[in-house]
Amino acid sequence: MSMPQPPHQTLSLQQPQLLVVEDDHSQRQLVTELLQAEGYRVCNADSVPAAILQLQQQPDIALVFSDWKLGSLSGLELLDYCKAHYPTLGFVIATAYGSVSHAVEAIQAGADDYLAKPFKRQELLLAVRKGLRARSLRKQNQQLSAALSEQQQLVDIIGHAPCMQQLFQRIQRISGTDVTVLISGESGTGKELAARALHQLSPRRQGPFIALNCGAIPESLAEAELFGAEKGAFTGAHAAKAGKFEAAEGGTLFLDEIAELPLSLQAKLLRLLQQGTVTRLGSHHEIKLNVRIIAASHQDLAVAVRDGRFREDLFYRLNVVPLHMPALRERSEDIPRLLEHFLQQHQQRYQQQAPALSKQTLKQLLGYRWPGNVRELANRIERYVLLQDEQELLAGLQPEAGQTPVSGFILPPEGLAFETLEKSCLQQALQRCDGNKAQAARLLQLPYKAFLYRLEKFGLTGGA
Ligand SMILES: Nc1ncnc2c1ncn2[C@@H]1O[C@H](COP(=O)(O)OP(=O)(O)OP(=O)(O)O)[C@@H](O)[C@H]1O
Ligand SMILES: [Mg+2]
Repeated sequence: MSMPQPPHQTLSLQQPQLLVVEDDHSQRQLVTELLQAEGYRVCNADSVPAAILQLQQQPDIALVFSDWKLGSLSGLELLDYCKAHYPTLGFVIATAYGSVSHAVEAIQAGADDYLAKPFKRQELLLAVRKGLRARSLRKQNQQLSAALSEQQQLVDIIGHAPCMQQLFQRIQRISGTDVTVLISGESGTGKELAARALHQLSPRRQGPFIALNCGAIPESLAEAELFGAEKGAFTGAHAAKAGKFEAAEGGTLFLDEIAELPLSLQAKLLRLLQQGTVTRLGSHHEIKLNVRIIAASHQDLAVAVRDGRFREDLFYRLNVVPLHMPALRERSEDIPRLLEHFLQQHQQRYQQQAPALSKQTLKQLLGYRWPGNVRELANRIERYVLLQDEQELLAGLQPEAGQTPVSGFILPPEGLAFETLEKSCLQQALQRCDGNKAQAARLLQLPYKAFLYRLEKFGLTGGA
């Protein structure tokens, strides 16, 4: 039988790649040539393991056309493998004449179509087109849901207040660029969330997002942690180690609490920002990097510069675009939405329904200063969902608590045994509240769990 010649090479390159799996040599040859004649690029395999190998080696395979019976295995097993590893792949299965149950089984297992043998050329082509269409729908779906979840991440930054809307506009405007951003704002205002949003919206979104808290690494280890170290660069460096900058290659490095970065490393960071290279500890070799830097600080960096704790040149280099996260008390109109958001989040997380908050409680929450900002609000709501007690939710709120300074107390020149003082405070509070732990926790302006933890630490049982 003479087969039509495959179409021109350049055309076939744009055609989908198909995989024909058939253990019968002449049948395999025939189907392969039929499909090639239609312009498809076709590879083939004579068994399930050979097909899996082809799939692994050729990531552009769009559809598998497989026989049902393949030696000791079946096309159904190949279908299961494909569904698990390549969920969008098109799949058409050929079953022996009269075996309707196989066809039903295949469709139930997720095949896009089946063909009863012997089949006509036209039937084969129709089934392949159907499988390819189903695949492209699945691919589209996958892309849409990826885009949706990305958007969801951004939508998760809740803020309808004008100051937040301005912030979102600013984030959107710089989203397509690699510009260095310095994020300021009190603790818990969402600095890290904003940094993640900047990364998600940037062309680097497929690359890594590495967050590093500059205040959490001891100075002696910070250089190796950030810039990497060659083997033997210092005692304990048993193997060469890439630093965080290298780990963030192609993505974003978020330097949190940048004010805490030791002065010696500030100079190295400046060099990196200016030249785009790092040098590992113990090496002279410069490594070229493509990393976007976002820095954040809850301290005022301008003050740190004035105090000589932060390099002025680095400050200007980082502060190309400043982003300021408003404190929650400056946007109290967002509090109801945030309450709703965290109530839903934690109810879902713990699979627990919490009673609606009373008007009185809402009023108190709206009037509170929220020194711990959104993080504090999230934590209080989590506690409320778990314990379902409005008093717990409000614990420590009443007398503008968080900020009440402990007036009149002066640390003695010789210092004091802090733990003894702490224990004594706990005991006195319990005594004054007749052993009522919730009240005692409130008296000390501590979250209930934190209070219990401290009781346990000192082996105090409290009372009722
Ligand atoms: N606008 C917001 N909408 C929804 N959740 C938020 C918002 N702002 C902050 N959060 C949540 O509050 C918590 C604290 O946010 P994040 O860690 O980004 O704050 P931060 O400014 O980095 O705080 P810190 O200075 O203490 O590190 C996180 O769980 C975050 O998801
Ligand atoms: Mg943070």
